[in-house]
Amino acid sequence: MSASNQREGGVANAEVVRLGLEGVVVAETQLSRIDGEAGRLVLRGRSLAELAGRVPFEEAVGLLWGCPVAGLREELGRARAAAFAGAGRLGDALARAEGMDALRAALGHGLGEGEPAPVEILGACAVYAAAWWRGQQGLEPVAPDPALGHAADLLRMIRGEAASAEEARALDAYLVTVIDHGLNASTFTARVVASTRSDRVSAVVAALGALKGPLHGGAPGPVLDMLDAVAARAAGGEPEPAAEAWLREELAAGRRVMGMGHRVYRVRDPRAAVLERAARELCAAGGGDAARLELAGAVERAASRVLAEHRPGRRLAANVEFYTAVLLEALGLDRRQFTPTFAVSRTAGWLAHVSEQLEGGRLLRPRARYVGPEPEHAA
Ligand code: COA
Repeated sequence: MSASNQREGGVANAEVVRLGLEGVVVAETQLSRIDGEAGRLVLRGRSLAELAGRVPFEEAVGLLWGCPVAGLREELGRARAAAFAGAGRLGDALARAEGMDALRAALGHGLGEGEPAPVEILGACAVYAAAWWRGQQGLEPVAPDPALGHAADLLRMIRGEAASAEEARALDAYLVTVIDHGLNASTFTARVVASTRSDRVSAVVAALGALKGPLHGGAPGPVLDMLDAVAARAAGGEPEPAAEAWLREELAAGRRVMGMGHRVYRVRDPRAAVLERAARELCAAGGGDAARLELAGAVERAASRVLAEHRPGRRLAANVEFYTAVLLEALGLDRRQFTPTFAVSRTAGWLAHVSEQLEGGRLLRPRARYVGPEPEHAA
């Protein structure tokens, strides 16, 4: 931990302040384990590589929720249908220009009363994310097809037409990959809310707020902006030198490189590898753009090199958002849809953590060290 992230107190106030809570363990979980040095991710006893691209989203949900996978696909289908049928309760929630704002408002309006089951919340997220996007295009929402898998139906509700099997498989790979990831900022937020014994919808709405930020789930859109900027600079020439020059300017201007660096990983995020593979497979099946993938590879190589010089003490490699951007773009999603699509999956992880917190957790209540002025007169 760097000295700037850990401050020693004075004699009278000798507590150590861990800015950003780096390295602080505040919960036990059976849901996911991150090995930041080796670059490994385990989801309830199964490695990510064993799951992503190999099982549908529903199977990963069943694994995290500890419930039988059989029937979950149908239950989730019914939940999507119910959310669509209840869309009259949403008011103008989905009219928000920002997808995460729309999701937050829609969950509050659509599911705000009573205590909906986790599957109802999860199903509703996909319906709301798709309906929001269609509304942004001036199109009517498309009713779900409860017989389809979640990924295939999400693409169908977004586009208004069926996705190919390869596209549905690629989106399944994405949804499985991002379903859970230790105590990241949004999951921590959900657990804090659950620790007060508040309700599930409140926990998910709060987590959406945390996920929205560019240091967490809001990075993939800016990754595409970076690819566009490098492509424009390369102007048909070699992308890697163009990327290097562009990145140096960004860092000199004090900006961060989106899609690079991670709080826990000191090597390349294993999710980046899985998503890159999914993008390549989709490309081989005729989806996406091979040149864009090559450009992404060149920018990643240049960014790793430039960041190693920029912060020699901190290994900054590609994180999940880098290839999220590439894969979701290859699936035809607009960059404004990226973070809401992340939320469609991560909601399953948040809900699993909420249950875990409710089962065995204590109220999460850290402290701050007071560094403000003292009263002039002692009471
Ligand atoms: N570009 C440039 N510099 C970066 C960087 C990046 N992507 N990521 C970290 N750094 C630098 C910081 O500026 C800092 O340098 P300093 O100590 O001189 O200020 C140092 O590396 C440590 O960064 P810090 O912010 O303390 O690490 P963190 O654990 O809080 O940050 C992230 C983790 C993910 C927030 C950070 O790597 C980041 O901002 N990445 C870009 C956004 C992104 O891709 N988010 C998606 C995450 S999955």
